[in-house]
Amino acid sequence: MRIAIFGSGYVGLVTGACLADVGHDVICVDVDADKITRLNNGKVPIHEPGLETLIHHNLKTGRLRFTTDAARAVNFGLLQFIAVGTPPDEDGSADLHHVLEVARTIGMHMQDYKIVVNKSTVPVGTAEKVQYAIAETLSARGVEQDFDVCSNPEFLKEGAAIDDFSKGARIVVGTDSERARQAMQECYAPYSRLQNKLIFMDIRSAELTKYAANAMLATKISFINEIAHLAERLGADIEQIRHGIGSDPRIGYHFIYPGCGYGGSCFPKDVQALTRTSRDLGHESHLLKAVETINQRQKGQLFHKLSQAFDHDLRGKNIALWGLAFKPNTDDMREAPSRTLMEALWAAGARVQAYDPEASEECRRLYGQRDDLTLSRRRDEALEGADALVICTEWKEFRAVDFEALRQTLYHPVLVDGRNLFDPDTVKAAGLRYYAIGRGDSLHAATVI
Ligand code: UDX
Repeated sequence: MRIAIFGSGYVGLVTGACLADVGHDVICVDVDADKITRLNNGKVPIHEPGLETLIHHNLKTGRLRFTTDAARAVNFGLLQFIAVGTPPDEDGSADLHHVLEVARTIGMHMQDYKIVVNKSTVPVGTAEKVQYAIAETLSARGVEQDFDVCSNPEFLKEGAAIDDFSKGARIVVGTDSERARQAMQECYAPYSRLQNKLIFMDIRSAELTKYAANAMLATKISFINEIAHLAERLGADIEQIRHGIGSDPRIGYHFIYPGCGYGGSCFPKDVQALTRTSRDLGHESHLLKAVETINQRQKGQLFHKLSQAFDHDLRGKNIALWGLAFKPNTDDMREAPSRTLMEALWAAGARVQAYDPEASEECRRLYGQRDDLTLSRRRDEALEGADALVICTEWKEFRAVDFEALRQTLYHPVLVDGRNLFDPDTVKAAGLRYYAIGRGDSLHAATVI
């Protein structure tokens, strides 16, 4: 099949590379000429395991190409995927500017029947807006042309996107057209493992499914963090509780890891957008608002614990920070808990010595050169001259730590662990004060100075 994909960001690139890899002919379009030149030279602007190899291979096979030429792309493929960004507006609703711009571009160049497939995360009713924008553009051209619009939301996790694309839990397609249904079936036919996972439904339900999935997952995280909050104050251990509840198959072990809050490009944005949609319909979603509020509080926990450990005076302290990315295996720092922590530390007059295996460059891009930020190349380098260590991201390389050596390196024996990576008794036996999430006495451990 010949497929065009508008938007060469995260979703567009993964979709394009994966579809080309199974034999489809794919053209990816973007308005950013520099990005397209770099992509045609094999330079991939995002860090996603396996993506670069896939792009290089399929550039070579000729099944994947990148262009800024929208007219060429529209006339290239039967399927026209829209995979551009929908950043939140100031009020939390999704900004459809780019999506509708692509719709008008498709309408501008369309010569024959097309199926426009929306992959961007968009509010319910957007497919109708896309339909209208295309129809309006066609009519301004004086052209009568049949086309279909369908919704095919993505459920990719950063760091596992390639696997998710080819072996995900399901593919949701919202359409009211038999022709579009058959074309989508053909598009995903090479993924034999997904054949019985194709779920067809009406367009509005498909659009809402995406938000419902992310809101449900975010709710699970805020729920466990809320119980962690209680456990901490009651002298209970959230890790034991997690095992205790996860063993019930109705609850399950997935996505109930307590931590320093969810981040990334999806959960915060989608929960806010759904809250806003709900409000627009005259219904205040107390549940979604609570999910968001708990997450904000959770992101502030690391600073709170650190501040408490230093008797609420962090002026002049050097804080070692391991993990800047919002989760492992990505360099993405959007809405990352590390940012909330760093900004609070700077406001309190502390300095940060950070290490992340992938996100240093992104951190520099976000915060620039500043005296109170050092980016280290190794995890141990970040500890040199540090007063305390905080862990924000559960990168694999943070899991094995020589606690004796750590205690000797730090000026104060304070370890704040936002991901509950260690056994509290082992850490404490080495003479460190261990402040984890929801683990009994970790909140009330005495201050160290
Ligand atoms: C998420 C969804 O999983 C994906 O289906 C959707 O398409 C996009 O949003 P992603 O943002 O890449 O994917 O990250 P994910 O791995 O889901 O983690 C999101 C956040 O939740 C991270 O900050 C992570 O640390 C946090 N998290 C996750 C927890 O705090 N506890 C958990 O148990 C699971």
